[in-house]
Amino acid sequence: MAKAVADDYLRRIPKAELHCHLAGTLRATTVAELAKRYGMTLPRPAETLYQWPDFDGFLEILRIAAAVLRTPADFTRAVYEYIEDAVRDGNLKHVEFFFNPDYFYPNGIDYPSQVAGMVEGLRQAKERFGVSGLLICCIDRSTNTPSQAVEIVETAIAHRRDQVVGIGLDGAERAGPPATFAEAYALARRAGLHRTAHCCEDNQTLAEAPPTNYLICRDVLHCDRIDHGYNMLASDFVMAEARRDGLYFTPCAWTSLLHNRPHRPRRIRRMVEAGLNVTINTDDPAMFGTNLGHGFTTLFESNGWGPDKARTFSLNSIEGSWLDESAKAALRKTFRREIAALDKEFGYETAALPV
Ligand code: ADE
Ligand code: ZN
Repeated sequence: MAKAVADDYLRRIPKAELHCHLAGTLRATTVAELAKRYGMTLPRPAETLYQWPDFDGFLEILRIAAAVLRTPADFTRAVYEYIEDAVRDGNLKHVEFFFNPDYFYPNGIDYPSQVAGMVEGLRQAKERFGVSGLLICCIDRSTNTPSQAVEIVETAIAHRRDQVVGIGLDGAERAGPPATFAEAYALARRAGLHRTAHCCEDNQTLAEAPPTNYLICRDVLHCDRIDHGYNMLASDFVMAEARRDGLYFTPCAWTSLLHNRPHRPRRIRRMVEAGLNVTINTDDPAMFGTNLGHGFTTLFESNGWGPDKARTFSLNSIEGSWLDESAKAALRKTFRREIAALDKEFGYETAALPV
């Protein structure tokens, strides 16, 4: 069957990425090179480094890979390299990186030095590729107590940088139900930081990550964006609430190099059909064996979607971002211009794009 939209169109349509973890974007070759420099032994060679048995094994390798970032220059390189990869693979225009500050403390790099390194990477990437970027200070719920989470947010506030615009919550959802982190989120909210959380991720059972977690993220954590969301599909009530709320969701199409979850595209399709505001993201692209363009092509191949949906996801990624209004307006212009040029090149009829 002919594809409803060309892979090349999907790769080249402009995108903002709202859900990717800096540690999960590290090229295996960069991890191996830095590990050698720092005399750190990796569990496996670069070629197989990102092959793990299960989700907990993934979180372990994520933290191991993170341990190679030890100087501001390492953080600069990580940010720059990912943007370079994503521009090539998926026409990235804007990215919001999660980083977990406590992953890096054991190697002696403090919060301000981490952020300074990442900000420099964003500056260099902006200069070279014209891509903008923001940072999200993330709490790993599997390894942080509620009071440690408060400390993470206090640190982000004490060393405030314009680029760090919000907080997130990752790790295994069963280990830390969202309400556990209410105090940290209240602090972030009072400080004017945006708030998102991994919620209803389908690597957890419905008992571990129930649909009601969405209501807690909304009402207790006061999230203004939600990462993932698949387990919400088990509750018509929660889906109806989410549709009415209009928050943006950041599901991810591909989940692992060895153990991809083939039902993801179907779940994302159901989220779209239920009327949620969906964006398409990569999560941990280097570790999952995916990239920004591949996330789109795999999803569209499974779902048979055409160019209209690609335009919607492309433009949704601007609206769901945490850019300020003037930066969003500038991106809308760029996206619309590039989409119109692509439509012409590929012979796709341009639907009236929302202004
Ligand atoms: N950290 C990095 N990727 C993650 C994911 N998909 N879920 C939870 N924590 C993560
Ligand atoms: Zn994630």
